[in-house]
Formats: sequence, C-alpha cells, structure tokens
Amino acid sequence: MLELQNVSCIVDDENSEKEILKNVSFKAEDGFVAITGPNGGGKSTLAKIIAGIMKPTSGKILLDGTDITDMSITERANLGVSYAFQQPVRFKGLTVKDLIKLASKENTPDICGILSEVGLCAKDYINREVNASLSGGELKRIEIATVFAKASKISIFDEPEAGIDLWSFQNLIQVFREMRRSIHGTILIISHQERILEIADEIVVLKDGAIVKHGPKVAVLPTLIGTEFAVGSCPQNGPGCFEGLSISRLAVPGGPGSVPAAAPGSVPAASSDKKAEAAV
Ligand SMILES: Nc1ncnc2c1ncn2[C@@H]1O[C@H](COP(=O)(O)OP(=O)(O)OP(=O)(O)O)[C@@H](O)[C@H]1O
Ligand SMILES: [Mg+2]
Repeated sequence: MLELQNVSCIVDDENSEKEILKNVSFKAEDGFVAITGPNGGGKSTLAKIIAGIMKPTSGKILLDGTDITDMSITERANLGVSYAFQQPVRFKGLTVKDLIKLASKENTPDICGILSEVGLCAKDYINREVNASLSGGELKRIEIATVFAKASKISIFDEPEAGIDLWSFQNLIQVFREMRRSIHGTILIISHQERILEIADEIVVLKDGAIVKHGPKVAVLPTLIGTEFAVGSCPQNGPGCFEGLSISRLAVPGGPGSVPAAAPGSVPAASSDKKAEAAV
C-alpha cells in the first residue's frame, strides 16, 4: 500500500516561492487509483515525488509501511515503484528490446507479447533505437510497455492516453483492465479521460495542489462529469492578471468569463472557480 502523509512541494519561481503541492495525504490500496483534475493542479509533480524524481519540501511517503521519502529513484524502483513519464524520455543507442529487458525482472521476458499488448508489432520495433525517429505515440507505447514489463508494486502512468490514436486507445483500456485483474499491486493512473476514470476503483481529484475529492469511482465520477473539473477554469483577475487592462475590455459581453461592465476589474460574484468549488 502507498501512503502519502502531508506532502508539500514548494519551488523557486522567478524570485518567489510557489507551492505546487499543499499537504497532500492519501492512501492507495492495491487496485486501480486514478488521479485527475485541472491542468497545472500538481498531478505530474505528485507522480514525480512518489517515483523519487522530485523531493517533497515536507511530508512522508510510505510503501507498505516503509518510509521511502529519502530513498533514491533506484532504491524505490528496486522496492517496486515504476513510473511512465507524461513526456517519455528517449534513450539514444538503446534498442526497444534492450529497454524492455532492462525493465523486466525476468531473464527472458516475453518482449513480443509485451509489445503487442501496447499495439506494437514486435518485428517492426524490437531492434529500433529509442530515439527521435520514433513518433510521439510510438514512444509513449514503448514507455508504457516498460512499466508493464516491470509488473511493480506501484505502477504510475502519467497520462498514458496522450498522443495515442483513438483506435489504439480502446486497446489500451483493455490492457489496463487486464493489468488490473492480473497484478497484485497499485496502478496509479493520471488521466483526464473519462474512459480511464471509469475503470478505476478510486478517484483522487487534485486541484491547485490540494486534494479536493477522493473516494470510490462510483461516488466521485458522477460529480466530475459536466462540472468545471472537466473544462478547467480561469479566476480572471487575480493579482497581476491583465495588468493595466480593464477586465471589461477583454471579456465578451454575456459570454463565459464576462463581468458586468459597471464593475471593471472586480471579481464576479460567482466566479468560475467558485462554481467549481461549489461542486466539491
Ligand atoms: N520547477 C517548477 N518551477 C515553477 N513552477 C513549476 C515547476 N514545476 C511545476 N511547476 C508548476 O506547478 C504546477 C503543477 O504542475 P504539474 O506538472 O504537476 O501539473 P499537472 O497537474 O500535471 O498538469 P497537466 O494536467 O497539465 O499535466 C504548474 O502550474 C506548473 O507550471
Ligand atoms: Mg501533468
């Protein structure tokens, strides 16, 4: 089981501090946990902190009760944490076959089987270099294949659907369903796709660096569809926004984000952010 206790992350952002994660705490039991929420909410940062790519400013990460907060990426990988990046990394000089062999715990992994699970024909890809000659979607599938090959305790996928064509997306959903049945561990998937959220056991919603919802899929998913979690939102006129410009000059009268002309620069009584919060 994965447990996060009061995880915060503050980064330097052009001479000021920016709090990307604010006291994030949750437990992920074995099964399928989806993390969703608006762009910039902190999902990838959270995934990188779990995988050890970034360090939290404060808080703890426990894997089956062991504190892994100060462990390196490699130590965590050895304990069974694997991570597929939102933007996959290229490995010049390494072939697809080598990469999957390196990822797998088995001496002779079923490379062809693993590649076909992500919709790649082994004969066309097995000896290809993992370099810039691969398309974005191909690279993404190879990255997902390496996480499948590891069959870890915690498998983290950051937006696996990104760049995958519609036809293959359907197959990918099947693969995740299968993975959920076959592995005894936690699959943590960051996604904006309703079809992926639908196969989750639990959903965590992260917004502005904080968890705003967490519960069984049946309870959380209906509250997200059609709300502003699905479309994003804009606070319009926070400090520093549209400096020197009146909001009323930017907003389309009567359109989304418009404000009464009589109150240029003021926060609308029911700003889009407020509505999103009201849905929480
Ligand atoms: N090193 C950094 N310096 C400054 N800001 C950062 C840094 N890393 C991340 N951020 C900011 O932190 C916020 C959270 O980023 P993150 O990538 O975790 O969001 P996300 O929820 O994964 O978004 P998306 O859905 O678009 O992938 C964003 O506003 C991002 O610009
Ligand atoms: Mg992200």
